[in-house]
Amino acid sequence: RFSKIGTLPPIEVFALNKAYLDDPHLDKVNLGIGAYRTDDGKPWVLPVVRKIEQLMANDEGLNHEYLPMLGLDSFCLAATKMVLRHDNPLVLSGLAFGVQCLSGTGALRVAAEFLCRQLGYTSVYSSEPSWENHHLIFKMSGFPNTRTYRYWDKVNRCLDFDGMLEDLNNAPENSVIILHGCAHNPTGVDPTEEQWKKIADVIKKKSLFPLFDVAYQGFASGDPDKDAWAVRYFASAGFELLVAQSFAKNFGLYNERAGNLVFVVNSQECIAPIKSQVSIIIRAMYSNPPNHGARIVASILNNADLTEEWKQCLKTMADRVRDMRILLRNKLESLGTPGNWQHITSQIGMFSYTGLSPSQVEKLILKYHIYLLKSGRINMCGLNSRNIDYVAKAISEVVLD
Ligand code: LMR
Repeated sequence: RFSKIGTLPPIEVFALNKAYLDDPHLDKVNLGIGAYRTDDGKPWVLPVVRKIEQLMANDEGLNHEYLPMLGLDSFCLAATKMVLRHDNPLVLSGLAFGVQCLSGTGALRVAAEFLCRQLGYTSVYSSEPSWENHHLIFKMSGFPNTRTYRYWDKVNRCLDFDGMLEDLNNAPENSVIILHGCAHNPTGVDPTEEQWKKIADVIKKKSLFPLFDVAYQGFASGDPDKDAWAVRYFASAGFELLVAQSFAKNFGLYNERAGNLVFVVNSQECIAPIKSQVSIIIRAMYSNPPNHGARIVASILNNADLTEEWKQCLKTMADRVRDMRILLRNKLESLGTPGNWQHITSQIGMFSYTGLSPSQVEKLILKYHIYLLKSGRINMCGLNSRNIDYVAKAISEVVLD
């Protein structure tokens, strides 16, 4: 029986992380998995998160009882307000509501199962390139057609906007279109506000279904409102849509799996049926979500002073990433590295799509012990004042090679 089972290739980002951890080289650098690091190269528990955890540890009123299938209400509402604005009429009327899920991945999975089972959708489009898990999630949820729309202009290292619009125009009606709300993973390139408006026009005209993946709200610019512009624009334009929210990066809660799936619907009558169907999907998958991360997020977002403290943390992270972008570009340029490195500072969010080729990536890993995805994506947070010279010099050398 089991001897028939074949082995699949490993998931690149986790295999790369393990290779980095196992590497005994003293100068090794991890630019792979998307996780924030301080300038000392350490993971960062946000001080405001630590504060809540200490309060929770001493709170005799807390226990380990099950949460409801749809999660912690105070978290779902606060998270929904965070992405759509606290005073959004859709939120106030209940037409926008959240369901707690297992981080962004879990929210996407519940969304995919729901869209496939309840609406009978069969085609999904994600950007080319995209976070590689998008394909897998939809395939495993029963979508027979997982397709891509053009996004990255390799030659000019920017958004291929015309290609994107053309592909969306040609997508069959009721296709699900995955859009990155901000800080596109892996390219770090987002549409402008004017471009978003044109994207919305095509999606409306062709009766496509928008699904936003919002994994970096606040982390990209340091301002959660600015990073939510595209989602809020679509919601205000009258779309029915879904938003998969992750709190891994912006609250530093990677392994707590705090996520929220926002439904924006057009009528009150469909709210109860949707909630009942989603409950069944969740019941069959994991029954109910974990408490810890969601309670931390709810405690912060439901308190104005703590929210301000959290925003300062966001700024600390976003500023450090911005400083590393400027430093890396300057160093590559002053080393006379051939090519144009302007995209390093124009891209936003955690990642930079460097344009390095697979063979250059391989050299960086094997010769310099600098770990990055074979697409050339680097996690800017892996750079710090101690390793930036080493990394810039290594990139320069492989480009010149
Ligand atoms: C990444 O893109 O590196 C992160 O979002 C981690 C993951 O799950 O892929």
